Amino acid sequence: MTTGKSPLGNDRLEDDPFALFADWFEQAKQTEINDPNAMALASVDESGMPSVRIVLLKDVGADHFVFFTNYTSRKSAELLATKKAAFVIHWKSLRRQIRVVGSVTKASAEESDAYFATRSRASQIGAWASDQSSELATRQTLMDKVAEFDTAYPDEVPRPPHWGGFVVSPQEIEFWADGDARLHDRFRYERNQAGLWQAQRLSP
Ligand SMILES: Cc1cc2nc3c(=O)[nH]c(=O)nc-3n(C[C@H](O)[C@H](O)[C@H](O)COP(=O)(O)O)c2cc1C
Repeated sequence: MTTGKSPLGNDRLEDDPFALFADWFEQAKQTEINDPNAMALASVDESGMPSVRIVLLKDVGADHFVFFTNYTSRKSAELLATKKAAFVIHWKSLRRQIRVVGSVTKASAEESDAYFATRSRASQIGAWASDQSSELATRQTLMDKVAEFDTAYPDEVPRPPHWGGFVVSPQEIEFWADGDARLHDRFRYERNQAGLWQAQRLSP
């Protein structure tokens, strides 16, 4: 028989899912072997066909999440058309996952500039050289473009206009913690009409 004990140890849910996110994220940074900020980001095309890929979570605000990418990529075309996104983060070391569903907008140019400036020169040049998601004839074609932009920007590398952040503003955040005998803890926060978070437990 399982003890029935909640993996989280109590029945009290935090009022603010972002406080809980911060708490779990800090734990994951201590325990994950790499990329505790890796998230599987889903988008859908105009026919409703979904696609998913890993991106890195780079900023967490009071009510939003930010990642960076190429604005002409497949994901960006879909996100810009639907203005909707979902992502999931799975921390194997903690046996936990967090799921997010929400609306998506471009980050401000200032925020994208600020983050771009923190990247290594090689990554900055790569952002210019890669026409992300388009067909590439050969690896050499890409390396030639890297060399070209390396010469074009010998000093500071400006942010390419086709590269920047996306802000995901959740309407729903679900926390999941592994429990004995698959009696996991699940609880979902949803924003009500007044913009306040309301949480309820879900069956595992
Ligand atoms: C660990 C990991 C981190 C990644 N981080 C990013 C990222 O932050 N931004 C990004 O554009 N692609 C990132 N990628 C690559 C994407 O998974 C994907 O290949 C790329 O964005 C093109 O996706 P798309 O064709 O669906 O637009 C990452 C891949 C992995 C495995």
